[in-house]
Amino acid sequence: MQPIMTTILAIESSCDDTSAAVLRDDRLLSNVIASQKVHEQYGGVVPELASRAHEQNIIPVVDAAIRQAGIRKEEIDAVGFTRGPGLLGSLLVGVSFAKSFATALGKPLIEVNHLQAHVLSHFIASPPTPLLGGEGSRMKNDAPLSTPLSSAGEGLGVRPQFPFICLLVSGGHTQILLLRSHFDIECLGTTIDDAAGEAIDKAAKIMDLGYPGGPVIDRLAREGNPDAFRFATPHIEGYNYSFSGIKTSFLYFLRDRLKEEPDFIERHKADLCASIQKTIVSFLLKKVERAALDHHVRQVAIAGGVSANSFLRSELQRICQKHHWQALIPPFQFCTDNAAMVGIAAYFKYLQGDFADISLPPYTR
Ligand code: KG4
Ligand code: ZN
Repeated sequence: MQPIMTTILAIESSCDDTSAAVLRDDRLLSNVIASQKVHEQYGGVVPELASRAHEQNIIPVVDAAIRQAGIRKEEIDAVGFTRGPGLLGSLLVGVSFAKSFATALGKPLIEVNHLQAHVLSHFIASPPTPLLGGEGSRMKNDAPLSTPLSSAGEGLGVRPQFPFICLLVSGGHTQILLLRSHFDIECLGTTIDDAAGEAIDKAAKIMDLGYPGGPVIDRLAREGNPDAFRFATPHIEGYNYSFSGIKTSFLYFLRDRLKEEPDFIERHKADLCASIQKTIVSFLLKKVERAALDHHVRQVAIAGGVSANSFLRSELQRICQKHHWQALIPPFQFCTDNAAMVGIAAYFKYLQGDFADISLPPYTR
């Protein structure tokens, strides 16, 4: 007899990516992401434009996710959605769509916390065929949906085992978390001001590298010397972080240098990127290493948009090797915002019978 499987449709719309995914139990069948190019010219996400783009994208994205999964919509057992935190207008589009879709199908709704989803992305099982993984299926606004899904990304294969530490680093959050079970997650430390991704994006903006600057800094840093310049990191209690000072010292450093050498940024771009990246990554991982030692874990994970950073990934691996820990490094398609991570969180909630009421509003914080 075939075991009973659960099919989840998941929707993510908390910021500027519209995404839908289909999972069968913990296995991913499709993960479609429509990124919004419109914000680049403004150097950051414009909430009003984001919600408008979500409205345009949500139906084609969900349609593509169902088609690529090769299922009929009647096979869906539950609809998971990101309830918060995020931008209110953006969340409202996904939340309203999920509610209408679930109602039309007569299926239950499952609300998911966006941060929990990032962390739980490590539990997405490796795909059974080379259908999935890599960059996922990306839609640039109204571009065709035919991007083939390439082979699975790195990091797959190591099964997470509780308890483990996870560094959640994105454009909005920087937290060290201790996971004792899927839903027993203790926040050991957090940033008291800017998020790490925000600091990276601001450093990129100072150098006029465009938005979001994280991937650009990552790429340029590969050609640079990470020890070319030093930027001070603050002394903050416990496992907490602060990034606003690093950003300011970077700004003042450049202001002084530019007075003497007007083309300083142009001439030292790669070294500047490598140095600011090293400053931020070393600061992040020093506290993560401390937390892992103090809590006697054997595995250390990273999650969130900044976990796509190649230097963070290699440094985590180096530290884990030193201590004989396992590094849990997500495939790229699960680092930045995506619905697959919402789907896996919804799946675990489904197993617990934890369903959401249709009247639930989104939350921003
Ligand atoms: O998780 P995410 O997509 O959205 C939020 O929930 O914030 O994270 C976006 C952040 C941005 O700050 C972006 O610059 C950063 O992730 N990011 C990176 C890289 N790819 C994305 N930062 C450094 N290196 C990367 N390769
Ligand atoms: Zn996120």
